Order: sequence, then structure tokens, then C-alpha cells
Amino acid sequence: MSATIIDGKAFAETVRAQVADHVARLKAGHGVTPGLAVVLVGEDPASQVYVRSKGKQTLEAGMASFEHKLPAETSEADLVALVKQLNADPKVHGILVQLPLPPHLDSDLVINTIDPAKDVDGFHISNVGLLGTGQKAMVPCTPLGCLMLLRDHLGSLSGKTAVVVGRSNIVGKPMAQLLLGDSCTVTIAHSRTQDLPAVCRTADILVAAVGRPEMVKGDWVKPGATVIDVGINRIERDGKTKLVGDVDFVSAAAVAGAITPVPGGVGPMTIACLLANTLTACCRANGLPEPEGLTA
Ligand code: GUN
Repeated sequence: MSATIIDGKAFAETVRAQVADHVARLKAGHGVTPGLAVVLVGEDPASQVYVRSKGKQTLEAGMASFEHKLPAETSEADLVALVKQLNADPKVHGILVQLPLPPHLDSDLVINTIDPAKDVDGFHISNVGLLGTGQKAMVPCTPLGCLMLLRDHLGSLSGKTAVVVGRSNIVGKPMAQLLLGDSCTVTIAHSRTQDLPAVCRTADILVAAVGRPEMVKGDWVKPGATVIDVGINRIERDGKTKLVGDVDFVSAAAVAGAITPVPGGVGPMTIACLLANTLTACCRANGLPEPEGLTA
């Protein structure tokens, strides 16, 4: 193995420490405490784990955490009413509705009810449009985390060839916009891309966000490339449950210049960026300077 391992866990800790430091100064200097409201509908076990972790890390950063757990059979009208109540609450600077929602609820309608200034997920259509036109937006947390790791490792991304594998609204599309914003030459590849390995081999920066365990092999990677693995897949191997990414780590690490591991790469950056976005939203709401290095 020759690649440098990009330690997302350690980097996320420094981001969280920066956020906590800024929060302490906001409280002391302005009497303002950033607040994050998380809404969970139903009992999806993975979502429950995420929401618990978000609440814990929000409190550790010195912020206020408001958790709203609603039964799976909650009506759309009741959920929309809660979102509107949170929009109007001055103690709440960030609102996150955990996805996926139960199938009888229209996610787009619910997300687009969130005040765009409090949309710390960056999923509201206004924020999508702002990001796409290079204006100041709330940026989705996972792609923002990937961008921070890339800037930290490579410095300037300008002129580099980037390939994003995956075209989801949560990761692939906003990731491509962010890389374009940093002057990369960007390709979005997906399951229908012809000769996907050859397209991937053009990349100085390769971001894998497809949700297929270990799909990207070492011979898809340009020697020396920086590989960002967004995948978190649970697989059974040798009778044990194991977490793996969308990249075949062993073969890719033999070719890449740098690579994020799974676990301990992109994953921890997502909640760190959620905290950063909540702090940013709070600063904007109060007309205060935004934290440096924590936004796109
Ligand atoms: N479910 C899985 N990832 C996410 C995320 O980033 N935000 C929300 N709201 N739900 C999710």
C-alpha cells in the first residue's frame, strides 16, 4: 500500500473543536446559543442511531439540541405544522428532517417547507439553486465534508480533473457543484456511464458515492489520484458483519496518492459539517461574521 490515508475522524474532531470554540465566543460575546432541531418520524433503526449521535455531538459543541420524535403514522399536515413552528422559533437556527420519511409523506414538500435560512442539510430547492448558481447557500453536509478533506489534503483544486460517481441529490450533484466552484473540470458518472473504469481513470480527484460495496477497483484509479469514498455499506464476510465503502480499499490504496478509509474517512465529517452549518446559520441570522474555513 502506498497511498496516504486521509484521516477523516481526526479532521472531523478539529472541525468540531473549531465549532465549539466559535460557539463559546458567540455565547460570551453576544449571548447567542446556536440551536439545532432534528425531526425523526418513525422507528428506522439506522435513523435512530444517526439522530442520537447528532443530538450528542450538538450538545458537546455547546449548542442547544431540540429532538422531535414522531410516530410513523404522523400525517403530512402535522409534520408540516411542526416544521412551520420550528421556522418561527428564534431559538432554532437549524432544522433537519431525518430521511427517509415513511412512504406516505412527501419528502420534497416537507423539505421545501423548511425556512431556507435554517435548512442546514442544504436540501431546500432555494439552496440547491443558490449552490448551482455560485451564490451563498447552505451546502449539504457530506459533500461539504468531502470538499474540506480535499482542500486540506491538496490545497488548491483549481484545474484538476474530478470524477464523481453517483448522481444523488444528497451527494453526487452537490459534490459536482462544489468541485466546479473550486474550478475543477468535473464529470458526473453513474450506472449507465459507458466504460466507467476508463472514465474514472481520468480523475485526479475521484469521489465514489454510488452505494455499491467495493465497486471501484484499483485499476479504475489513476496513479497518484486522490480517492474520496462516500460509501457506507454493511456486508457479511467470513461470518462477520463488516463496514466497507464503495471503493475496494486494498487495491485502490496500492495505486492512489491518497484515500479515505471506511470507517473513519468521510463519515465523521458529515455530522461535523452539520454542526458547522448550524453555527453558520446562527451567525447569518444574527448578522454576525461567519466562521472561517467552515463554509464552501
Ligand atoms: N439520511 C441519511 N443521510 C441524511 C442526511 O444527510 N440528512 C438527512 N436529513 N437525512 C439523512
